[in-house]
Amino acid sequence: MSVVSMKGKILPHHFLKMKKRGEKIVMVTAYTFYQARVADDAGVDGILVGDSLGMVIMGYGSTLPVTLEDVRHHLRAVVNAGVNALIVADMPFMTYEVSKAEAVRNAGVLMKEGADAVKLEGGSEVADIVEALVKAGIPVMGHVGLNPQKYLVLGGYKLRGRKAEDGLKVLEDAKSLQDAGAFSVVIENTVSEVAAEVTGSLSIPTICIGAGPHCDGQILVIHDVLGLNPNIPYFARKYLDAYTLFVEALKAYANNVRTSSFPGGDEFKHMQPEELVRFKKLLNSEGGD
Ligand code: KIV
Repeated sequence: MSVVSMKGKILPHHFLKMKKRGEKIVMVTAYTFYQARVADDAGVDGILVGDSLGMVIMGYGSTLPVTLEDVRHHLRAVVNAGVNALIVADMPFMTYEVSKAEAVRNAGVLMKEGADAVKLEGGSEVADIVEALVKAGIPVMGHVGLNPQKYLVLGGYKLRGRKAEDGLKVLEDAKSLQDAGAFSVVIENTVSEVAAEVTGSLSIPTICIGAGPHCDGQILVIHDVLGLNPNIPYFARKYLDAYTLFVEALKAYANNVRTSSFPGGDEFKHMQPEELVRFKKLLNSEGGD
């Protein structure tokens, strides 16, 4: 029986079991109560309250402005949905880099809000932070390959692993996160051969986004899957054109309001006839004063 069909709450150790059984892990981001409900009803294994909210919810040009409070706010909505899926909360830029103590304190805020795990970006340079979090009892998902929080020092949102040396660096980063105690690792925008090598070398599951099919699982941003974004990255797949559907639906609503066909017969309530008589009498007596 698959972990998902057991219909219970999914926890970090279930991800490890799924890798052992060769079951693909399905993750999607969600930032609101109903996005989480929809994802859970679809049977996804994990929901990431990603710092991508900075771009798809707030409209920022990058994830750098996202704060711990932003993630906490959206995490609360996802937790309120009461999902079976594992809830992973992203640690925003500058909430874990300064010191281990600060990282533990900030990750603790997200765990107390109801996250089942946290995710942070980086490889060997954050291994000591991952270790400190795990020691404090906080499950950690790593994130190697492209790290969007570092796009300024990386020279943009570049594909990782094109050169052999860079591929090796991605592999070493992933291994150092596993050694530090991470229970899984995201591989982002990396050539598929490197992602396959990482997946084969690690005992913890790899969850890929833009890193090809040879991974233990996949994650996509919910806006890209549902087409809430008009434009999606090359590695995503749009299963619905929600943007167009939303525009069409709102055009129909606007048209109905403008032509007085909304609200219709059963979309409003009437006063009882005897109350209406009394109402009119009161109006008349008011008018007579
Ligand atoms: O914030 C996010 O959505 C992410 C995914 C791209 C993995 O980190």
